[in-house]
Amino acid sequence: MNVLLIGSGGREHALAWKLDQSPSVTELTCAPGNAGIAEIAATVEIAADDVIGLLGLVQRMEIDFVVVGPEVPLALGLVDLLQDQGIAVFGPTQAAAQLESSKAFTKDFCKRYNIPTADYQVFTDKDEAIAYIHQGTAPFVIKADGLAAGKGVVIPESKFEAEDEIKEFFSGKFGDAGQRIIIEEFMTGQEASFFAISDGKTAMPLIAAQDHKRALDGDKGPNTGGMGAYSPAPIFDQKALETVMEKIIQPTVYGMNKDGNPFVGVLFAGIMMTKDGPKLIEYNARFGDPECQVMMRRMSSDIMEILVPAATGKLDKAALPAWYDETVVNVVLAANGYPGKYKKGTIIKGLDKANEMDGVQVFHAGTKLNDKGNLVSNGGRVLNVTASGDTVKEAVDRAYLAINDAIDWKDGFCRRDIAHHALGKPS
Ligand code: AMP
Ligand code: GLY
Repeated sequence: MNVLLIGSGGREHALAWKLDQSPSVTELTCAPGNAGIAEIAATVEIAADDVIGLLGLVQRMEIDFVVVGPEVPLALGLVDLLQDQGIAVFGPTQAAAQLESSKAFTKDFCKRYNIPTADYQVFTDKDEAIAYIHQGTAPFVIKADGLAAGKGVVIPESKFEAEDEIKEFFSGKFGDAGQRIIIEEFMTGQEASFFAISDGKTAMPLIAAQDHKRALDGDKGPNTGGMGAYSPAPIFDQKALETVMEKIIQPTVYGMNKDGNPFVGVLFAGIMMTKDGPKLIEYNARFGDPECQVMMRRMSSDIMEILVPAATGKLDKAALPAWYDETVVNVVLAANGYPGKYKKGTIIKGLDKANEMDGVQVFHAGTKLNDKGNLVSNGGRVLNVTASGDTVKEAVDRAYLAINDAIDWKDGFCRRDIAHHALGKPS
């Protein structure tokens, strides 16, 4: 099959690496890709949010199968456009992608289908939201309704702080995304990212991972897209998987289909392991980044054997994917300053040496080759150093050994405590 992958992050490098190993992928193109992806696939300079450009590319290149990585093209309706042209695509339609692109949609949906999640209220009026806060007790969870690149959630510790945040949301901090807000009950527990795929009718469980959203060690500092991940997630055992499939994923696939929005693609459920059992924090309609990188390394079977059946309504006939038992850790190297301001174009060396080390595989995120052919940074999150091991400790030690002894990039930083929950260290 002639396959097109859309995106340019570490998630897409890991997907490209896995797609490249599939016997059914005869040609692989990625738009726009990065320097790592360019080593294994053809890359085309069309941005992931240029849906019209991508449609033209698919027609020109006679693509048979499209895999969409990031959320923005999904929310823009790329899948709908491709399906109208009869092209097989792994990813949800614009209507189904609302599970990620509208938190109010998802909360209302969960209420109708009895899916366990935090209690909530939706507000489009600032004063009503402020009045509601004054009736409740802190902490409050306040969310922008629309996509806000992982930054649309605040958890103020007091009513005064909450009032200020509400004013900021309505002042246009997140554009239209913040003109409708959700105020939720605060849930406590450890978080896990659980992934399942669906063809619109049938759901298939994949595996869970844990990520690290804060920029700095000890879960301090600002929220980011994710600074590292590991899988398996020890807090998410087989019983948790069964409960989440039964109480959260299956009713979601059933309800979306019943409502006329069958969901095809990855259901990425952010789960809070509360004392009353697993509850849904939020849905994303795609693979997680940096979680996808550890999942692709743990998957031992051919990824096309699940993606194609999911895209063509045949998941009930597909076998569950197989997974390696070992632990895989991903440590993200980001440009100094991320998630704030950072420099681009700084030189990176030592990746070949890192890739030769035991269990290590580096996936690129924001990288490119400069005019002289040197590898340089080209984004906030730049590299993903993944490492496998028989134990969490072995995997963690291997990843940091590669970072300390092989990778030479003085303009980047990483967290030094990835997988600390699994290593039993305090957070
Ligand atoms: P979200 O973008 O909805 O995943 O929220 C980002 C982060 O905010 C989550 O990963 C949680 O750490 C936290 N969070 C979101 N909703 C809640 C909630 N209802 N209770 C406690 N923490 C939450
Ligand atoms: N790792 C969180 C995300 O992909 O949104």
